[in-house]
Amino acid sequence: MIMILLMALAYILGSVPNALWIGKVFKGIDIREHGSRNTGSTNAARVLGAKLGILTLILDVSKGLVPTLTAILLKVDFFENLTKISNFDYVLVGICAILGHVFSIFMNFKGGKAVATTLGVFLILVPKAILFAAIVFFVVFAISKYVSLSSILAAISLPIFIYFLYQEIIYIILGILIAILIVVKHRSNIERLKNGTESKFSLKNKK
Ligand code: G3P
Repeated sequence: MIMILLMALAYILGSVPNALWIGKVFKGIDIREHGSRNTGSTNAARVLGAKLGILTLILDVSKGLVPTLTAILLKVDFFENLTKISNFDYVLVGICAILGHVFSIFMNFKGGKAVATTLGVFLILVPKAILFAAIVFFVVFAISKYVSLSSILAAISLPIFIYFLYQEIIYIILGILIAILIVVKHRSNIERLKNGTESKFSLKNKK
């Protein structure tokens, strides 16, 4: 019962559209009508400015981190006992938070591109792999200045790092599924990268 409750709470917390609400509260604008129109921290920084972007990033990361950490602290093991797959419950709670962010109950089941909330979940589950994926992110970003490309390549590299550093099958599967989700959610960015119309990251468009 506690596991079902935790999954529901993770989904609801994941659904909280921080970029949208912060944009409305602090600037009186709907972020879905500005910049890339994404309700993520990159677009929040682009449209609302660095400080509100960082606030959005912290809150979006927390949406994944807090429920996953709670599941670990509570040692939930309902599905683990059922399936004999270790850490299955922690992974399920993390997935619920990420799905909440992508298919938000507060935004007609639309949402962000899963990057920051995924970061929160994986920081708890596979911190060493996240460290290496973060290096991929920053190297690609330093070279290209495209956050989208950096996110995509970091997401693709993550299951590879998990494989080498953890060899935990459920984490590898989670990494692959989330990498696919992140690539799919970035398909408009991929189109723009191919056309040469993707905007390089800058904070110039502060409003
Ligand atoms: O985390 C989302 C980022 O990878 C791309 O954001 O606003 O440039 O589409 P955006």
